[in-house]
Amino acid sequence: MNKKCVYIYTIGCQMNVYDSEMFKKVLKPLGYIPVDEVEDADLVIVNTCTVRKKAEEKAFSFLGRTRALKKKNPELIVAIGGCVAQQEGAAIMRRMPYVDLVFGTRAYSRLAEMVARFEVDRMPVVDVEMSTGISEEPAPPAPDHEVEVSRFVTIMRGCDNFCSYCIVPYVRGREESRDPHAIVSEIRDLVAAGAREITLLGQNVNSYGLKEGLCDFPELLRRVAEVEGLERIRFATSHPKDLSPGLVEAYRDLPKLCNHIHLPVQSGSNAVLKKMNRKYTRDDYLGRIESLKKVRPDISITSDMIVGFPGETDADFEETLDLVREVGFSGIFAFKYSDRPNAPAVKYEGKVSEEAKSRRLDALLDLEKELSEKRNSSYTGTVVDVLVEGRREGRGGLQWTGRSSCNRVVNFVREKEEGAPELVGKVVPVYIEEGLPHSLRGTMKSDI
Ligand code: SAH
Ligand code: SF4
Ligand code: F3S
Repeated sequence: MNKKCVYIYTIGCQMNVYDSEMFKKVLKPLGYIPVDEVEDADLVIVNTCTVRKKAEEKAFSFLGRTRALKKKNPELIVAIGGCVAQQEGAAIMRRMPYVDLVFGTRAYSRLAEMVARFEVDRMPVVDVEMSTGISEEPAPPAPDHEVEVSRFVTIMRGCDNFCSYCIVPYVRGREESRDPHAIVSEIRDLVAAGAREITLLGQNVNSYGLKEGLCDFPELLRRVAEVEGLERIRFATSHPKDLSPGLVEAYRDLPKLCNHIHLPVQSGSNAVLKKMNRKYTRDDYLGRIESLKKVRPDISITSDMIVGFPGETDADFEETLDLVREVGFSGIFAFKYSDRPNAPAVKYEGKVSEEAKSRRLDALLDLEKELSEKRNSSYTGTVVDVLVEGRREGRGGLQWTGRSSCNRVVNFVREKEEGAPELVGKVVPVYIEEGLPHSLRGTMKSDI
């Protein structure tokens, strides 16, 4: 079999990162090896996101580049997968006739077959069929090489929440959970290949298993925590409305569960939350945070925020700033509201001007910078446990890098480096010397 090269460009959320790994796995039996330079590729795949207009534009601009590559090498196969592919389907080929394959968010199990067929008949294919159930998808094969320390595992697909601004339910389909045995077995394989931290992925992990009558999410966490050799468990994303007392108990009982939760609130105004169809109030959100803090007083909380949702007034936005101060988030991903096809908010009145959106975004990011600088500098002089992920060139030479349980990046040097053992994959105590806006810097001392 000829060796062929595949280049995968991934845009979007962690789900797409996981799916791109799957693409590599299913294409391997056809002889495709992944490469880092698009110019070396026989097959280019762009795995796309459409959550905001900007993400969609990024996909089309990358596809535009492949046109020149295809001119140079007419044998090159160009494929588009993921959420833009699902949304646009065959329309992409009309707009960009040099695209050969369009495959949607549920088609990954058919990707190898599509590519193999195209290699022979060179007939373009569009596959945006969504009816493939999660249980019909083949289990990912165990890794045959060493894997990175921190890995993603998708536990469910789709979303049933229909937040009024969001396109995800339309491009990812209905919520479906994977069988817990398959999840635990995939995690065992990853740990055997070197993983020490697993992030469980879903659009709304708190509703895991409920529809199918499988075990619930807290029970899944307990089962995953039993995997020997696994040091840390994280998850994303959890919807505040479904955060159950069982999850709080899991935080109380499971030391492997990291001291962090990403709990997107989106807005601090009840009026806006209602129009967003989030199904919780500001007080509900604060109540959930309080119950988490009861069992983990120093838990780190991060959030997504949308500014400039239709009808959002300056007073509404002030309530968002006020909530950010009250919760003391450790990090915020803030986005300007973007109209998306199919999402009900497209038709909402009171669209906010671009200028006001920018002003609000800047104000929110300034506040988050101030808070995170304050929080990070409070770590100076303390010792944090770091799961070491690698080594890279930093300020003043080679540094080790990893993350604390509360998900802060920690870069550090070791007092005595010569002859000392490898650190990647180990949890080590690091003395923090400086809290920077987005990371902590320290030293691993021999006496701590
Ligand atoms: N399922 C996850 C979010 C997935 S999308 C959850 O509910 O938390 C990631 C983030 O993108 C969302 O949390 C939201 O803040 C943002 N987002 C989604 N649609 C958007 C839109 N139309 N405009 C701007 N931001 C959006
Ligand atoms: Fe979108 Fe809401 Fe579903 Fe998250 S929970 S993916 S924001 S519809
Ligand atoms: Fe984007 Fe699709 Fe993820 S729209 S955020 S890649 S689910």
